[in-house]
Amino acid sequence: MVGVPPLPALVCTQEGCGQGLDCGGRSGAARTVRLALVNITGAERTTGPQGLCVMWRFAVNSVLADDVAIDLGTANTLVHVAGRGVIIDEPSVVAIQSRAGSRDVLAVGEKAKQMLGRTPEGIETIRPLRDGVIADFVATEEMLRHFIRQTKTIAGFIRPRILVSVPAGATPVERRAVYETALSAGARKVFLVEEPVAAAIGAGLPVDEPTGSMIVDIGGGTTDVAVLSLGGVVQARSIRCAGNAMDEAIVRHVRRQHHLLIGEANAERIKVEAGSASTYVNGETAEIFIRGRDLREGKPKTVILGPHDIGEALTDPIEQIAEFIQRAIEDLPPEISTDICERGIYLSGGGAKLPKLDSEFERRLGVKVHLPEKPENCVIEGSAAILRQIAERDHLLIKP
Ligand SMILES: Nc1ncnc2c1ncn2[C@@H]1O[C@H](COP(=O)(O)OP(=O)(O)OP(=O)(O)O)[C@@H](O)[C@H]1O
Ligand SMILES: [Mg+2]
Repeated sequence: MVGVPPLPALVCTQEGCGQGLDCGGRSGAARTVRLALVNITGAERTTGPQGLCVMWRFAVNSVLADDVAIDLGTANTLVHVAGRGVIIDEPSVVAIQSRAGSRDVLAVGEKAKQMLGRTPEGIETIRPLRDGVIADFVATEEMLRHFIRQTKTIAGFIRPRILVSVPAGATPVERRAVYETALSAGARKVFLVEEPVAAAIGAGLPVDEPTGSMIVDIGGGTTDVAVLSLGGVVQARSIRCAGNAMDEAIVRHVRRQHHLLIGEANAERIKVEAGSASTYVNGETAEIFIRGRDLREGKPKTVILGPHDIGEALTDPIEQIAEFIQRAIEDLPPEISTDICERGIYLSGGGAKLPKLDSEFERRLGVKVHLPEKPENCVIEGSAAILRQIAERDHLLIKP
């Protein structure tokens, strides 16, 4: 979990009061409660009364709005609270203990991830979402409920409004399950948005302009593409090939080339620490030692892999994703595909952090590829922005 920034202290400025927001100005003569956000440093000194008033209103609104955005991802779940930012960023993993026919949640998030592959009998660790879809409805509900409960405790909310992002290819049954779970976990109102649509807004694309903007969100389970123009969605689609498929490709490659058996968690570490989307290596030395079991002799063995090997291992999933983007561009109306070819495409999602992925797509697709500074945060930042402007952006929401 990331650190929670402190809330600005809200005090009543009724003369002689200085109590909390809810004092109602009881200690003063007038009934009007005047609020001061005491830690807007220097606000009073640097702005006039009107500017200060606007700042107060903005700050009070963002502090008081009980709006929660959730990026329910295959690999990671992020929770954003209005006025505070991202307060939860944890792996989407649940540890469940089965005893006498009942299933109890033992741990969720980072704690549960540490148990992956190391659990005794009776305890199982589950990734409730697989390939971007809900593989285990009960565990997904448990996880979502846990994160919402945690958010309510941290932020002091009772019944917040919640916007959840779902993959562009989620089925109506999956959307309904997410919607119902958020409602039953105590949401006052639940909204759903497709992940790449949120990502486009989070990446700061000019989605309201009369020009096509394309985002490609490469997560753990799915790669989602969305094209927006004039504030609306022109196209949104998804394939089940992303970060996890890259890990599986590394497992297969190491088995084929080195007769070594490694697990997917190990493969992910190799990808993150020494990965490359390209087999062209110029002077790069990032190498990684891998230990596993030799399939022929059954003994432990160590091999060294470098970016060239990993680039080779990842050729297959990268080719699949590039072809998927190519088809998405080809299926667009000609004016919009021309816009995309001129302006380029934007990447988001944790999978987009693979070194040289942007240049490899440029080489394969022949269009400029842009990578935002924090691609893994685009979906959650975009979801939070949609929630802030829900009245103007409600046409981007999807039905449960
Ligand atoms: N530096 C890195 N290089 C390559 N891949 C990375 C890197 N950092 C994270 N990843 C990969 O990004 C993926 C997770 O990305 P993200 O958190 O966006 O997925 P998600 O939103 O949970 O999944 P989805 O959108 O499919 O539901 C994982 O497969 C992870 O291995
Ligand atoms: Mg995602």
